[in-house]
Amino acid sequence: MDNRNLHNIPETEILELIEKLDVRGPRYTSYPTVPVWHAESIRAEYQKALLETSRKGDPVALYVHLPFCEKRCLYCGCNSHITRDQDRINTYLDVLEKEILSVSSTFEQQLEHAWLHLGGGTPTHLAPERLERLLDVLIEVIPGADKFERSVEVDPRITTIDHLKVLADHGFKRVSIGLQDFDMAVQMAVRREFSYEEMLGFVAQCRYLGFESVNIDLIYGLPLQNRESWNRTLELVQLLHPDRLACFGYAHLPEKIRHQRAINEDQLPSARVRLGLLLDAHKFFTSNGYTSIGFDHFALPEDKLAKAQSEGNLWRNFMGYTEIRGLQMIGFGASAISELDSLFAQNVPLPELYNEMIDKSGWAVTKGHELDEDDKLRKQIINDLMCNLIIKNPSQLAMDNPSRDDLIEAFNSLKPFEELGFIEKSTDSGYHVTSLGQLFLRNLAMPFDRYLPKQQQVTYSTTI
Ligand SMILES: C[S@@+](CC[C@H](N)C(=O)[O-])C[C@H]1O[C@@H](n2cnc3c(N)ncnc32)[C@H](O)[C@@H]1O
Ligand code: SF4
Repeated sequence: MDNRNLHNIPETEILELIEKLDVRGPRYTSYPTVPVWHAESIRAEYQKALLETSRKGDPVALYVHLPFCEKRCLYCGCNSHITRDQDRINTYLDVLEKEILSVSSTFEQQLEHAWLHLGGGTPTHLAPERLERLLDVLIEVIPGADKFERSVEVDPRITTIDHLKVLADHGFKRVSIGLQDFDMAVQMAVRREFSYEEMLGFVAQCRYLGFESVNIDLIYGLPLQNRESWNRTLELVQLLHPDRLACFGYAHLPEKIRHQRAINEDQLPSARVRLGLLLDAHKFFTSNGYTSIGFDHFALPEDKLAKAQSEGNLWRNFMGYTEIRGLQMIGFGASAISELDSLFAQNVPLPELYNEMIDKSGWAVTKGHELDEDDKLRKQIINDLMCNLIIKNPSQLAMDNPSRDDLIEAFNSLKPFEELGFIEKSTDSGYHVTSLGQLFLRNLAMPFDRYLPKQQQVTYSTTI
């Protein structure tokens, strides 16, 4: 029984808590987090891990990064490159095909229970014929790819019916649409304009072509957002009947991301308004039939993610949430990340450098991290917390486990969070997270991060 349900707690109390605890910290899309990874090539280790993965027959997701966009959205924190140069895009696609050939030559057998996701940048910022060719290559070259579940991220402003038809004809059933906010003033402040009527037409096209699951991305904390206009956006979004929603906190890091400097900081909502926006989204979607997934996602109760969360099988990676616990991920393209049991490996981010490396050797991995036993254990704890809202008591670990004492100390340090009502004792002497605590998942995870105390020089976004 969740005694600290968001709907029953006075808003001022929640806002005061959020203000007190709104520190900077990792989003934990990976553990260990990217700043911990080292910048030496781990190509040999990566190749070995790929071979092991294909031998074990573990479920695998393929992530293909298409980094180009037509126009820059000022808030954007993704690895995206603005271009209208078709030759540049086509050269990249030619090289991408080479990487797919090279990596898939290490697989000894069919990949099982797999998933294919196209992300970006904007995966539809290319000619539909080239999209078709890429998908044909992927399906032909990768053993087992014809059976994969497929999903794609699209920018509705530039995605045509022809793109959608190619995707639908190639078995794509899930589409994730970037929206962010419907308010015109907000859209102009971030240079991304798209009306409700246009969005309505776009979602209808997706449904008509057979996309069974529609996700919509929103961002809170953008310039000129206020609670009144945000609530109008939420109501309009609900009229589109998305199956899933992502509601990301705007990560404003102008010292790292140059184009964000064009955002007028005087127009950013105050901390209190920003938190109010988050609270509004949580209250609005949970009272309109959605289940809150992890920290910043919502899904209809019959959605696979909601079921996986209630069964303790929800998992998280760089692509977002997935219903497959421990899903391995193999990334293709510039900046793409691979996540295998034993390591993380990332390709070089710049498309032109990526092209050069693949042309030379067929591989572009330049950065990564091999997980030791302690990393693996903490990764499980942090993922279970961020996804399944549970924290197991580490005193149940074997007495000779070298991480045991540190983890017990981290577990005991959660006591103040228990007093605040973020977590409650569960029957197995661990904790489960309350709906209030779901707003503070990043704070709850931080004590389990062995590397965080040594990362004073790293700039993270605010946790809420
Ligand atoms: C690769 S983009 C989506 C696909 C497509 N390029 C588009 O914009 O529609 C992925 C999502 O990341 C989110 N995002 C991008 N930059 C962000 C930032 N600085 N802070 C928080 N969320 C961000 C947006 O919600 C965006 O829709
Ligand atoms: S938000 Fe999407 S369309 Fe806009 S720049 Fe980023 S990746 Fe490109």
